[in-house]
Amino acid sequence: MDVSKVDKEKYVEKIVEEMISSPSQKDSDEMHESIEEKVASIYAEVIEKHKRKPVRSVDKMIEILRREYKLLVDRKLVTLVVAAFLAGRPVLFEGPPGTGKTEIGEAILSLWAGKPALIIPCSENYDEYRVIGDFHPLMALRYGFNEKSFIPRPLLAALILDTGVLVDEIRRSNEEFQNMLLDIIDKRRIIVPELRRVFRAKGEGFQVIFTSNPEDYAQSELSDAFLRRVVRIPFSYPPPDVEAEIVKLRYDIDVELDSKILEAMIQVVSILRQKAAYKPGPADTVLWARIAGRLAKLRGKQQVTVSEVVDAATIILYKRVGEEEIVDETIERVFGLHP
Ligand SMILES: Nc1ncnc2c1ncn2[C@@H]1O[C@H](COP(=O)(O)OP(=O)(O)O)[C@@H](O)[C@H]1O
Ligand SMILES: [Mg+2]
Repeated sequence: MDVSKVDKEKYVEKIVEEMISSPSQKDSDEMHESIEEKVASIYAEVIEKHKRKPVRSVDKMIEILRREYKLLVDRKLVTLVVAAFLAGRPVLFEGPPGTGKTEIGEAILSLWAGKPALIIPCSENYDEYRVIGDFHPLMALRYGFNEKSFIPRPLLAALILDTGVLVDEIRRSNEEFQNMLLDIIDKRRIIVPELRRVFRAKGEGFQVIFTSNPEDYAQSELSDAFLRRVVRIPFSYPPPDVEAEIVKLRYDIDVELDSKILEAMIQVVSILRQKAAYKPGPADTVLWARIAGRLAKLRGKQQVTVSEVVDAATIILYKRVGEEEIVDETIERVFGLHP
């Protein structure tokens, strides 16, 4: 769930409402909301709708991840994350794209807290104001720099709501931002000097998972200081049988996908992971199968045939200009086609 959009929209709505309402109503006490009340009203809808009993047992987590989230997650991985949370340490998921880091992170955090995790998608210019909170300029002019004009953002909201935070693609942020996050996670509190307030985590639900792709050349290195303070869990491409199981778990159309065809598809992606510049992840394999299934359905077939697999490949695997040939060659070889 991308919260930044939800809170922004709600707040703009609210501010406009405040601006146009009568002065007596505007300045009455009931209009004054504490930060906690604001957080509750901004996030209530998403949080309340998806509340559940926190899930902290490894077995139960694995089972729910599979059944409800359609995520196939290794027992060792879940155990490591739970151990890290019990030790009060944030976790870093590192590995290539499409291996489930973001979805698995969000799902585990949500199960652990018993309510949806909030997501912080990192970018270069992210700073504390974007994740802790900032003052709305018009509101600040009107009411001063106080709680009334302060807009809480996801990190502060998660701490107040006692839920998890997924900090996605941490390498896209700057070092100062990374250190600020770690300081908050270590001390489990957020200080907002402008408000003269300290917010403290009240339960165990506030946990953090970072994701990162170490091979993305556009991204920066993580500092030793950062790495020292997180529990790092590497992600890699799954073995073929596991990848087949993932595709089956995610395959959502009533057209048969023969296991021999699926095996061949997985062979294609694993060759491309070694040879091509664009390395398809399990996310691509899943989409490839789902598109092939839909093509077959549109063509009135009961079963996916090689022709749908090949057609779907042109939209799923042709990602870089000039690499079409490598994809074609690999498919021809694996499927035994003779053009
Ligand atoms: N273990 C898994 N179980 C289920 N689906 C998976 C798994 N790993 C990858 N996927 C596929 O990848 C998608 C999630 O990828 P994502 O979390 O965005 O990866 P990353 O963050 O590593 O780039 C899922 O929607 C699914 O199609
Ligand atoms: Mg991701």
